[in-house]
Parts: sequence; C-alpha cells; structure tokens
Amino acid sequence: MRKKIMLKETEIPKAYYNLAADLPFKLDPPLHPATRQPVTPQDMSAIFPMALIEQEMSSQLEIPIPNKIREAYRVYRPTPMIRATGLEKYLKTPAKIYYKYEGVSPTGSHKPNTAIAQAYYNKKEGTKKLITETGAGQWGSSLAYACQLFGMECTVYMVRTSYDQKPYRKTMINLFGAEIYASPSNRTEAGKRILAQDPDCPGSLGIAISEAIEETLRTKRAKYSLGSVLNHVILHQTVIGLEAKKQMASVGEKPDVIIGCHGGGSNFAGLAFPFIRDKINGQSIDFIAAEPASCPTLTKGKLEYDFGDVAGFTPLLKMYTLGHEFIPPSIHAGGLRYHGASPMVSLLLEHGLIRATAFEQEEIFTAARIFSRVEGIIPAPESAHAIQAAMVEAIHAREEGKQRVILFNLSGHGLLDMSSFNGI
Ligand SMILES: Cc1ncc(COP(=O)(O)O)c(C=O)c1O
Repeated sequence: MRKKIMLKETEIPKAYYNLAADLPFKLDPPLHPATRQPVTPQDMSAIFPMALIEQEMSSQLEIPIPNKIREAYRVYRPTPMIRATGLEKYLKTPAKIYYKYEGVSPTGSHKPNTAIAQAYYNKKEGTKKLITETGAGQWGSSLAYACQLFGMECTVYMVRTSYDQKPYRKTMINLFGAEIYASPSNRTEAGKRILAQDPDCPGSLGIAISEAIEETLRTKRAKYSLGSVLNHVILHQTVIGLEAKKQMASVGEKPDVIIGCHGGGSNFAGLAFPFIRDKINGQSIDFIAAEPASCPTLTKGKLEYDFGDVAGFTPLLKMYTLGHEFIPPSIHAGGLRYHGASPMVSLLLEHGLIRATAFEQEEIFTAARIFSRVEGIIPAPESAHAIQAAMVEAIHAREEGKQRVILFNLSGHGLLDMSSFNGI
C-alpha cells in the first residue's frame, strides 16, 4: 500500500485539457452587458490579453503549456496524491480515500496553477500591471506571487471581512510586492456607492470584482485577472486532474467518487474535468461539488444569465446564481462566498453529469478538526467542505459494506486561517 503517490517533474502535464471539445452539449456564450449579444474577442480585449481570450473561446482539445509555465510549476508540481489512511481508520470505512494535495504550492493552494499562466500570457503581450479581487486571500497572494515571478505590478482588492479575519494574507501579498486594499473601498465609484449605502458592508467577491475591473479600465497597460469561474482559468487548473489520473493509474485504481469544494468552480473542475471525459465515455463516476449552505449557488441558485460582479461590468454568464447583488454571510471560507458558478460546471450540473451538496460551517470545521488530527494536515476552511463530503461518502460505503474509491481535492492548507479555528 502506498501512502504518498508522487510523479516525476518530467510528468508535469505538457498540455491543458479542454473539456469544451469533448462535451456532447453546447455552452451558451457570454453576452455583452449593453447589447445582450454574444461578446466578441474585441469586447474582452479591454481587460484580458488575446491569448487568454482565445483560450476562453477555444474548442481545441489540448492546449500546449509553454515551457516557461512548466518551469514555474516545477517549484511545487507535480503535487502529491496521498492515501488518507488515518481518516479511513477513524471512519472504520472499507472505502479507500485519496486526496490530491494542492496546499504544497508556494502560497498554499491550487490558485498558482492559473496565476502563473495568466501572468505569463499577460507579460508576453506587454501588460505592466494585473489587478484582481480576492476572497480569503489565496487567490490574491497567488497572483502577487506570479506577478513578481514575471516582473509585473499587482493590485489586489480583498473582501473586507476576510481582510479583517486573515491579516497574514495581507502580509504575504505585500511580501510579494503587490498593493492590497480592503473592498469595498473609497478608491472606486463602485466601492463608494456601496459604502454610502452601508458603511459597514462586509464586502463580497462580486463587489471586489467591480472595483478591480473599474480600476483596470482607467489604468494604462493594466489588465484584469480572475481567479475562478471562467473557462481559461479552469483550463489551467486541469493540471490537477491530469496528474491525478496518472497517479491513480500508477496504483491500479479508478475513482468511483470525485469531490471538490466549490466557490467559483476552479479546483473542483480542475480535478474533475479530465475524469468527466471518462464519464462521457461510459465509466460510472459520481462527481460531487461541495459548497457552503450559507452561499448555496449550485444547490439553491437559479440557472440563468447573470453578471459576475455587483456593478454589472462583466459580461452576462449563463450560470447557477444567487443574484449578483447577493452578499453572503461572513463565513470563514471566504473563497466560497461567490454568488455565481463557472458556466461549464453549471452546464454539467444541468445535464446531471455532476451533483452538488451543501454543508453548514459547523460541520465543515468538525471535519477540518478530525482531518487535522488523523492526517496531520490543517485544511483551508474552503477545502474542509470537500473533506466533509468525502467523509459522508466514506460513511455511506461503510453502511453499504462497499469498497469504493473516493478521491477529493485538498485545495489548500489552513495555516493562515488559524483565527478561524480559534473563533469557532
Ligand atoms: C483553498 C481554496 N479552495 C477553494 C477555493 C474556491 O475557489 P474555486 O471554487 O475556484 O476553486 C478557494 C478560493 O479562494 C481557496 O482559496
């Protein structure tokens, strides 16, 4: 029995996997907010570089990963896949539980997989500065890290409630040479409007996105960068699932259940999409996206066109949404406080290829505590949603007396989330 399944550096994937090319149904296009017509590459070029716009719209099955990106990945990829033997024993389950551990990256989560790629393509097209939003700070610190790798400036709008809860993310973002502001802020019209209505507004990803886009549009040679939701972000995250497939095969396993927590969809999709291909080809796999009950986008949202941000700057995306003005309660899993979902993940849910489940904050912190004690890794509160879902599945397996193979994404560690563990 192998505890830790590793790959060689030469096995870092050479191409991203594009599920759009394999999907048996059509993805509805993003619409221009003013004309309600499908957006054109030209429309998007104000905020994204051409290479990423092409990836966003691509129907090519594989997109080669440039050497410079693979070089940067070598610092932490391939990431390990670990058998959760401690958890199996604790749950007395016949199920085998594996997790892909993305917390080994320099900033502690899966987010550098796309931050590095986005910084690379922007730099190549002459961008001087990237501007973004962040929830819990995992994305902001990852983009700050990637920008300094490629010699670019970076500005981060961090959702105020997380800015106050997780001060060391601010330190990390500054350490990597980026600027950071709590959102809503007085630096933008969108932020000022919201503060005028509610000076104590805890903020939301939707508000922070509006602020970041507004600043991008008024700043020369700056582009905007998004850490989740969009097709090109998910495309970059497929390195997780591509590695996981090799790792599973190397121990002669095929997963019966694949789980990821869900904020905008990128870590769930990153692990799941390369395996969705197998499901389309007839293999039986249960895919589960786990979200907070207080921000139940997939389990209670409506599938419709909606804005990605509060001010309505983004194109309209066809997605499960709680409404772009929804401000979620201030839960500790700040990275899951998003009103919308990736259009690709939404389409899979609509067609029944995946399912979604929601957990209360108390449940996921109990799961996080158990996992910390039996596996020795303190998970990010976001990732604890995936742990809780894996525990539910492992208990089902025990009740049914079935030996199932469960694979989940441990998207990040919680070493900068200690105040959350203290406070609950
Ligand atoms: C550790 C971790 N997991 C998951 C997420 C949720 O994002 P996504 O659904 O895009 O993976 C975040 C977002 O900040 C995160 O930091």
